[in-house]
Amino acid sequence: MPVCILAIESSCDETAAAICKDGRILSNVIVNQTIHEKYGGVVPELASRAHLQNIVPGVDEALSTANCQLSTIDAFAFTQSPGLIGALLVGAQFAKSLSLVFNKPLIAVHHMQAHVLSNLIPENKPDFPFLCLTVSGGHTQIVLCEDYLKMKVIGQTLDDAAGEAFDKSAKLLGLPYPGGPLIDKYAQHGDPDKFKFSEPQIDGLNFSFSGLKTAILYFILENKNQNVSFIEENLHDICASIQQRIVTILLNKLKKAAEQTGIKNICLAGGVSANSGLRRCFEETGKQMGWKTFIPPFEYCTDNAGMIAITAYYKYLAGDFAELSISPSARAEW
Ligand code: KG4
Ligand code: ZN
Repeated sequence: MPVCILAIESSCDETAAAICKDGRILSNVIVNQTIHEKYGGVVPELASRAHLQNIVPGVDEALSTANCQLSTIDAFAFTQSPGLIGALLVGAQFAKSLSLVFNKPLIAVHHMQAHVLSNLIPENKPDFPFLCLTVSGGHTQIVLCEDYLKMKVIGQTLDDAAGEAFDKSAKLLGLPYPGGPLIDKYAQHGDPDKFKFSEPQIDGLNFSFSGLKTAILYFILENKNQNVSFIEENLHDICASIQQRIVTILLNKLKKAAEQTGIKNICLAGGVSANSGLRRCFEETGKQMGWKTFIPPFEYCTDNAGMIAITAYYKYLAGDFAELSISPSARAEW
């Protein structure tokens, strides 16, 4: 009998629902919350309220696109951790209620584990073991994935995430939130070697981006002191130089991880993997190092329920179900 799973993701500001049948994603609906734009960042309370408004239409659309009905779903999955607690609660309660009403198993999924397994959605999947560089607005991790549900974090950021490094740099340049995609856009017409930002010296496979943020702040203040239009006149080159430094910080650690582990199947995941400079350098580095490289399609890189559904599918096969008493958690190890 085929296994059909309905998954819900509500950890931050995307309300998402997806249907997965035997490991194939039949629908992947993402309802974006635009309300946060005017506040320059995600407002947790507003995110929870928007999830409440979006969740029923989002789930309905996921079911109708997949041509499924609630009564034919075999298990209900949700993001249990990490995330904004009020936002997580909406998805968790919704999935629990469906599990109770239809008397079908409940599956709790760790959001970061799901980002890694988003690489198993496309036809062309990495073999185990593989390494995954997960880069998002909240996390920067190198994960060693030995099997579907067996993975460990071997490197992570000690302070800001890569997405925050992009967004905070953009804010210093006066760009709106989230500034990552704008830095990417302007960088495409800039000279990445025009301005030099030093690479932080961090032991092992861990990252740090807070020093870069401070360096950019002083770089802007000093240059604006001499020329008030410095940013406007150099925006493309500044963005290209910042982007190049963030990308080299990420890829130098990834190279180190690949050398240390001897693993050559290397994946990207998370919202920052949309960055065109990172994608290009990742592919070039892969060719130089003899890696097999994998990047999920864009809709599975940013927060989505397809990745929750694929993870839930492997948990279903492993019989890894949750009790109805389970609570979401803002922070939890996997
Ligand atoms: O994975 P994601 O959608 O949400 C989190 O789980 O955080 O990642 C969002 C992050 C934001 O920081 C955003 O600025 C960044 O991904 N981002 C980008 C690009 N597209 C999204 N950063 C740089 N270049 C991009 N093209
Ligand atoms: Zn995420």
